[in-house]
Amino acid sequence: MKLLSTKATCNSHGQDSSYFLGWQEYEKNPYDHVQNPKGIIQMGLAENQLSFDLLESWLAKNQDVGGFKRDGKSIFRELALFQDYHGLPSFKKALVDFMAEIRGNKVTFDPNHIVLTAGATSANETLMFCLAEKGEAFLLPTPYYPGFDRDLKWRTGVEIVPIQCTSSNNFQMTESALQQAHEDAKKKNLKVKGVLVTNPSNPLGTTMSKNELNLLIDFIKDKNMHLISDEIYSGTVFTSPNFVSVMEILNERTDKDFLDANVSERVHIVYSLSKDLGLPGFRVGAIYSDNETVVAAATKMSSFGLVSSQTQYLLSAMLGDKKFTRNYLSENQKRLKKRQKMLVNGLQKAGISCLKTNNAGLFCWVDMRNLLTSDTFEAEMDLWKKILYEVGLNISPGSSCHCTEPGWFRVCFANMSEDTLNLAMKRLKDFVSNSNGEEGSNSDNKRTRSSQSSRSFTRKSISNWVFRLSSRDHHEQEER
Ligand SMILES: Cc1ncc(COP(=O)(O)O)c(C=O)c1O
Repeated sequence: MKLLSTKATCNSHGQDSSYFLGWQEYEKNPYDHVQNPKGIIQMGLAENQLSFDLLESWLAKNQDVGGFKRDGKSIFRELALFQDYHGLPSFKKALVDFMAEIRGNKVTFDPNHIVLTAGATSANETLMFCLAEKGEAFLLPTPYYPGFDRDLKWRTGVEIVPIQCTSSNNFQMTESALQQAHEDAKKKNLKVKGVLVTNPSNPLGTTMSKNELNLLIDFIKDKNMHLISDEIYSGTVFTSPNFVSVMEILNERTDKDFLDANVSERVHIVYSLSKDLGLPGFRVGAIYSDNETVVAAATKMSSFGLVSSQTQYLLSAMLGDKKFTRNYLSENQKRLKKRQKMLVNGLQKAGISCLKTNNAGLFCWVDMRNLLTSDTFEAEMDLWKKILYEVGLNISPGSSCHCTEPGWFRVCFANMSEDTLNLAMKRLKDFVSNSNGEEGSNSDNKRTRSSQSSRSFTRKSISNWVFRLSSRDHHEQEER
């Protein structure tokens, strides 16, 4: 008798992608400058640790809030009791105001149109449940955030069809790539329900232009589809061009065609405080939609992933402090800019370049094609393993983001100290010099490993993954 469900035993979670395997390897042998100086440096995690001091100093000045008091009186019992799944009105108001502030107050958001979720992960999955049936599809531009295979597909049974973007135009989405993806879906007998983009993009670290956004809006208007704009990095833009939210485009479009088609009801924004405020552990996300039915359905579904009352209480006070949010956003932006520059310069010294258009996010999209032994995903995996085990850096291979060109990697820069970033750059430079047969120290190159057995286990899982990746590519090529 089968004891577990198909869902519990199915393989579509994506946990065995190199993106997650790299995290596992890091966990076994994490770098620490005193305890484990030869350990692996985690550069595969898009976390923002650069502005914790600003949050901590706000908390120190507002101890009543942290101690669950209002006007000096404890509200512990109020917070501990049953929570209505609509969320605290004061928090929803503070959150929409914060979202508007990030967009330069060019747009406003109605707190009645927001649904709180346990992070953007839950927001994206909830939208899939609301907008598509099992076996229907969403189009996503490549490269895309590896977590989407889990978030969009795993439990919902929704399919992802890639919109193939290439380095020839810095991975920007084109009309022909969109149309091609639509054709590809049709050939697979998949009904397409919408397009999902991340703006700013993870993993590219770039913002979408007004042209791209208008292209998308016209596409979903003509094809009668939905658009999900995951704007989780909207406050994490450190140089021009500025971030443009799809909401701004919706406000600008006043053509009759657009208004008649009720497009605004088919555009949904996903947001979270995991990146802009650096609070992924708090699990605070949201769906914003002008579609009443979607808001009502998503609110009911949010029962499965609510944001705790004490978190909402704390953050409604923090985000309600406008002086604090203004200062936080601008200071955080300065720090990100400085950090990104350090990474770009460090890579440059090692002869490695990044996507020139990088102006946002917590990572760079790095071109290591010159370090591949051949123009294949097998060579990309070989390089990734060398960088993981010999250099001691966990970075994310482009193939884990479904990039169609081998040799690109996502490298994070905001989840470590400056010293650690400098060490990572030194290790990489030495590795490149050694690979080129030049002189260079290799003293750092022999990583200590946690145990022989765990290493061989992981290598086996990585080999399995590479095997599956090459079969997938062959299969996709045959289908094309
Ligand atoms: C584009 C994108 N969407 C969603 C998520 C998930 O975020 P959360 O921690 O809010 O669930 C991430 C996290 O890396 C992301 O990069």
